[in-house]
Amino acid sequence: MTIYALGEKRPDIASSAYVHPHATVIGDVKIGERVFVAPMASIRGDRGRIEIGDETNVQDGAVIHSDTSFVTKIGRRVNIGHNATIHAESIGDNAAIGMGAVLMLGSKVAEGVMIANSALLHNKTLTEPNKIYAGVPAKYMRDLDPEGEARAAIDDYLDTYVANTDVYKRDLREVDD
Ligand SMILES: CC(C)(COP(=O)(O)OP(=O)(O)OC[C@H]1O[C@@H](n2cnc3c(N)ncnc32)[C@H](O)[C@@H]1OP(=O)(O)O)[C@@H](O)C(=O)NCCC(=O)NCCS
Repeated sequence: MTIYALGEKRPDIASSAYVHPHATVIGDVKIGERVFVAPMASIRGDRGRIEIGDETNVQDGAVIHSDTSFVTKIGRRVNIGHNATIHAESIGDNAAIGMGAVLMLGSKVAEGVMIANSALLHNKTLTEPNKIYAGVPAKYMRDLDPEGEARAAIDDYLDTYVANTDVYKRDLREVDD
């Protein structure tokens, strides 16, 4: 595994989480229960602490980095899409960060928010719960009903990643023939 202590800062990873061997986790990072970290994700807690809540997934190529002025807190059951860049201060429970989205320093994503793919959330941007934000810079697009079909689809998708924490431990193997 590519999990590194940096001096006294040592990642604290729940035993039920799965971190792919080609992901990198460095320093002051806490990873909760049944979190899935895909290949090429980088979670680098060298400047500031990063906390990732239970059943969250961090997909391929996503980058999470913190800052000295805050702890980056990512909630429970958050989807972090492929190649997203997270320099945010917080991401609330049940949020979904689209592929390639960029969350700049100190931005805050509220609970149940979806950030559209390729969106840019500028420094210190705040969002309101259960809404979709899209574009560069990201603006309010529409509401995301916590009881609606779109929400159910996100939850289904998320459950696949939660299940993957077991599937990958059990079934993933290198093929060298
Ligand atoms: C934002 C999002 C929810 C919109 O979904 P949708 O309503 O089905 O979008 P549609 O394709 O029907 O497009 C509706 C309008 O929104 C625009 N739009 C769609 N996605 C957009 C985006 N990411 N940024 C800006 N505008 C977007 C479309 O161009 C279209 O505009 P128009 O009405 O002027 O033609 C979706 O595009 C998205 O980003 N989902 C996140 C997917 C993702 O990355 N998941 C993580 C998986 S790893």
